[in-house]
Order: sequence, then structure tokens, then C-alpha cells
Amino acid sequence: MEFQDVIRKRKMVRAFTTEPIAPEVGERLLRAANRAPSAGFSQGYAMLVLEAAEDRSAFWKAMDPEGEYEGTALRNAQLIVIPCSNKDIYLDRYARPDKGWTDRDEARWPVPFWHIDTGMLTMLLLLAVVEEDLGALYFGIPPESIGNVRAEFGIPAEFTPIGAVAIGHPDEDRDARQKTSRKTIKRRTVEDITHRGRWGTAAAGADAVATGAGAGTGTGTGTGDAE
Ligand SMILES: Cc1cc2nc3c(=O)[nH]c(=O)nc-3n(C[C@H](O)[C@H](O)[C@H](O)COP(=O)(O)O)c2cc1C
Repeated sequence: MEFQDVIRKRKMVRAFTTEPIAPEVGERLLRAANRAPSAGFSQGYAMLVLEAAEDRSAFWKAMDPEGEYEGTALRNAQLIVIPCSNKDIYLDRYARPDKGWTDRDEARWPVPFWHIDTGMLTMLLLLAVVEEDLGALYFGIPPESIGNVRAEFGIPAEFTPIGAVAIGHPDEDRDARQKTSRKTIKRRTVEDITHRGRWGTAAAGADAVATGAGAGTGTGTGTGDAE
């Protein structure tokens, strides 16, 4: 698949069939995720991968004890990947001689590269899913469920689950019936989000942002992939 098509087709899919994912496809997805860039090549991330039905079911029980998602086509996802970030790996990496931040002072990190890099890994996973003609949803794990998920799968304290990616063969009909932000909020245009040369001097689009035109003036069609 052409890369531009991969980008254009990427969207969150929230309904899956129960068709299994071939093991070699699953492996390709994980290998793609592992091509992520990382600060100082720290690679301070890891993936908890849940394939077996009992593991997936244990995940849903831990993450959704009230059973809010029970019976939904989201739960048909045959593969769940939980990307986890590890701050300590960055502090250790940047204390090495070529970086020299031996004080391990966290003030040196205006933004948490460990979460950023894990997000980059996640994005590669989402793009690789498209190339495999699969669908995926990245979603947050509610704060009150993170402890359950950690305990269920033995995630060590130094790793932080940044969310979960449910992957499967899309159930197009059921997915089309999902209520999602994408259907109610238009994608902002490049002009809306771009400040060329100097902040605030951008063309018309900047006004749309400044006046808080939440739906933007984008050409996104909500459910479509116009951009
Ligand atoms: C950090 C992050 C957290 C998200 N959390 C959820 C979530 O908990 N549940 C959900 O259904 N979608 C979640 N989404 C998906 C967004 O709703 C979705 O990306 C957005 O509406 C744009 O749609 P698209 O990804 O299909 O283009 C999340 C996306 C991101 C990047």
C-alpha cells in the first residue's frame, strides 16, 4: 500500500469481527512498532501483547470491571497491545558519558520523552495495522483501572501503560454506526494549525483558532478520509 494511502486510511476502528489475526501478521505489526524513533535511542518502551482469548478477557475484566464494553464489537478485537513507557531508561541513558546528565535531574525534561517515544511506537503500530487491512483503536485506560491491569499482567512499577490498542478485522457495518468525535468535529485545516514564520501572523486559519471555532473550517467529512 502506498504510504499516502496508509495515512489517509488511518482512522480509529471501534468494531471488529471475531476473525483471528494470522500470527505472522501480528509479528509484522510488532516489528513495525519497534522501528520507532526515541530520544538518545533510549528505547524506553515495552509492549504487553495479549493474544490468547483468556488474556484478552482478563484485560477487559481488569480495565472495565463495570462491564461497560461487554457485548460490544470492540471486545471482538483479537489482539490487544498495551504500550508502556519507562522514564528510568531515559534518566539512565542520559547519564551515560555521551550525554552526561549524571544528576538524573527531571527538570532537564520539559516534556516527557518517554511518553512521546511510546506514542511514536503506538503511531507506527496504528499505521502498520492499516497496511495489513486491519483496524485498531487506541484508547485510554481509566486511572482507576490501571492498578488492576498492572496487577493482572505483572506490569512492573517502572513501566507506565500509556493506553491500549485493540486490533482486529474491522466490522465495517457496526463500526459505521459508532458515535465518534470524528463524526461531529471537523478536522482542522493545515492553515488552522500552522503559524508560518511567526506565531499569530498566519493567514486566515489562525483566526479560526483564535476565536475558538472548535469545529474548524476543515474539509474533513467526519467519517471520511478527505485529508
Ligand atoms: C491520546 C488519545 C486518546 C484517545 N482515547 C480514546 C478513547 O479512550 N476512546 C476512544 O474511543 N477513542 C480514543 N481516541 C481516539 C480519538 O477519538 C480519535 O483519534 C479522534 O476522534 C480522531 O479520529 P480518527 O483517529 O479516527 O481520525 C484517542 C486518541 C488519542 C490520540
